[in-house]
Amino acid sequence: MDLVLVLVLGLLVHAGGATDPEIEDEELRARDFLQFLNKKNEESSNRLVLAEWAYASNITEQNLQNKLAVSAEVAKEHKKDWEEVTKFNWNTFSDPDLKRQFKKYSKLGSDALPEAKLNRYQKIISEMEKIYSTAKICDFHNSSKCDLSLEPHLTQILATSRNEEELRHVWVEWRNAVGPHCKVLFEEYVDLANEAARLNNFTNNAENWLDNYEDAQFRGQIEGLWEQLKPLYLQIHAYVRFKLREKYGEVVSEKGPIPAHLLGNMWAQKWRTVSEFTLPYPDKKDEDITSELKKQNYTAVKIFQTAEDFFKSINLTEMPETFWERSILTKPNDREIVCHASAWDFYDRKDFRIKQCTQITLEHFITAHHEMGHVEYFIQYKNQPIPFREGANSGFHEAVGDLIALSSEKDDPENVLNNLFQIGLDKIVFLPFGYLMDLWRWDVFEGKITPDEYNCKWWELREKYQGVEPPLNRSEGDFDPAAKYHIVASVPYIRYFVSFVVQFQFHKALCEKAGQYDPNDPSKPLHECDIYQSTEAGNALKKMLQLGSSKPWHEAMELLTGHKTMDASAILEYFKPLQKWLENENQKNGAFIGWEKSTKVCVNSQKGEKPKSK
Ligand SMILES: *[C@@H]1O[C@H](CO)[C@@H](O)[C@H](O)[C@H]1NC(C)=O
Ligand SMILES: *[C@@H]1O[C@H](CO)[C@@H](O)[C@H](O)[C@H]1NC(C)=O
Ligand SMILES: *[C@@H]1O[C@H](CO)[C@@H](O)[C@H](O)[C@H]1NC(C)=O
Ligand SMILES: *[C@@H]1O[C@H](CO)[C@@H](O)[C@H](O)[C@H]1NC(C)=O
Ligand SMILES: *[C@@H]1O[C@H](CO)[C@@H](O)[C@H](O)[C@H]1NC(C)=O
Ligand SMILES: *[C@@H]1O[C@H](CO)[C@@H](O)[C@H](O)[C@H]1NC(C)=O
Ligand SMILES: [Zn+2]
Repeated sequence: MDLVLVLVLGLLVHAGGATDPEIEDEELRARDFLQFLNKKNEESSNRLVLAEWAYASNITEQNLQNKLAVSAEVAKEHKKDWEEVTKFNWNTFSDPDLKRQFKKYSKLGSDALPEAKLNRYQKIISEMEKIYSTAKICDFHNSSKCDLSLEPHLTQILATSRNEEELRHVWVEWRNAVGPHCKVLFEEYVDLANEAARLNNFTNNAENWLDNYEDAQFRGQIEGLWEQLKPLYLQIHAYVRFKLREKYGEVVSEKGPIPAHLLGNMWAQKWRTVSEFTLPYPDKKDEDITSELKKQNYTAVKIFQTAEDFFKSINLTEMPETFWERSILTKPNDREIVCHASAWDFYDRKDFRIKQCTQITLEHFITAHHEMGHVEYFIQYKNQPIPFREGANSGFHEAVGDLIALSSEKDDPENVLNNLFQIGLDKIVFLPFGYLMDLWRWDVFEGKITPDEYNCKWWELREKYQGVEPPLNRSEGDFDPAAKYHIVASVPYIRYFVSFVVQFQFHKALCEKAGQYDPNDPSKPLHECDIYQSTEAGNALKKMLQLGSSKPWHEAMELLTGHKTMDASAILEYFKPLQKWLENENQKNGAFIGWEKSTKVCVNSQKGEKPKSK
């Protein structure tokens, strides 16, 4: 669920309309300069991404050294160029487009670090990624079989095993295999990230990351959205806990947080796989899609072709020949790779790839659509100058492929509800996790959470927002945040929360264009809309995607939806029938809403030590 973007410089040549001769003169010079930079940076970005790909798709020391060397070289060029950029009085430029590009150039990112520190910074991240990507644990049933990796083995056990002890084993051992090995590296990473941010005139790296959203009120908006969505989350939470108690008994308490290892996913961030025994209408259970895909002999390539077919049906673009030649769509067995799925733009307007260790499961089927959504975005904005070849904000980029899975066909009410419930187990359940990941990191970067409380503060947030608890006591000898890819790989996460909200706004707008949804017509509710084959919907989406980041995201949002802000009303409308059903069901069951304090503790000391008295 990741995409790779590189900070680069570029230029769009425009006829200017300035009147002040001196400014006009400077703007003319600026255009020339940027034209030159654009060409140069397209080439250097391509070189850099190729080296990054070589490492991520083949983890060796040599490929790491090469990647670090290329990155040092490119950083040096960026720094020199940046010094030239800042000599311009770009804040006074009359052409907003030119000014916006300069503004983007004026942030140098981590390349602002002195050479040795930059090298160290990138090495640390690569090292943590390697620990994460190559970690192996032993089989619960056979302690001499010790080659289980996250993808595919652990993911699959979490999704399908209903043996509480096995789930607990996998949950704990994965964290033992990654967390403690990353702790010291992570501390150093935090210091360097903050130092780089300060060199870019931010107070710390949290401020740097939030700058992507160009909105001083952003954090408050996110909190407001969460407050609106929380009541729906509480209903799902209460219902699932009730069902889990029926299944697992006293391991799940009646009123406490839910043990995180029982929710079908390593991070309890999506719970769809527990729908197997929590479905509202179990008798109406469809053949599950995973078995269906296997029965129909789906391959990884066929899954991606199916995704492509959907995009083509709404008049988005087919994948170029080189996509199929160069992408890695199944896990190779002759080398270690970073299996975490990602989409790659090589900045030459032709070369776009996906790397995914695809399994023939519903989860991977959805991920394939997600990743291809990134590539569709890359292709739509490829003719923008390089600084604008990004999403309107990072959340928009994450939303494109996810849209597709929101379409569903008309069906009888019980099937509709079953389906909505399963989508809710992905989309609603994810929200508190998508929020707390960066609540934790913002506080870490701001120094509000210090290294001696990393893990316990993490669990405070997990409990407060998600209402989940670890299956056993934790301590500061553990470092559970590192068991999640985006933490070790330094990928900001609030983008996914944003995506999960705005994708419903986009979906609603597209459904209206497709003539499939009408707020005043009860026969066309939002949750029954399907945009498949609607070129009206696709063309509208395309227009927004083509903007890249050339306009602030509020404008991109307005172009598609007619509104300028993030808004929870679309997602709430979509899930309205589910919310009603859950409220009714929870009341019938006498299910407790919310959660009392966890009985699991996190001790603020290394494992084995006595708790520190404070
Ligand atoms: C992996 O990288 C090494 C260099 O470290 C290279 O010799 C090898 O051929 C690469 N393997 C593949 C499959 O590309
Ligand atoms: C346990 O795993 C080892 C190593 O893979 C294998 O040789 C052995 O046959 C396995 N034992 C059982 C009982 O499956
Ligand atoms: C940060 O601010 C200083 C002082 O205003 C300025 O000289 C420097 O160029 C700025 N650096 C960046 C990366 O904007
Ligand atoms: C899938 O493959 C099996 C074995 O090759 C074959 O018998 C079956 O007919 C195939 N099913 C479909 C739907 O193509
Ligand atoms: C599909 O998109 C292309 C431009 O990308 C446009 O020229 C064409 O008219 C669109 N087709 C339909 C049926 O809207
Ligand atoms: C967890 O810690 C609490 C408080 O220290 C203790 O009472 C409890 O026995 C511990 N549980 C386990 C399983 O160690
Ligand atoms: Zn993604």
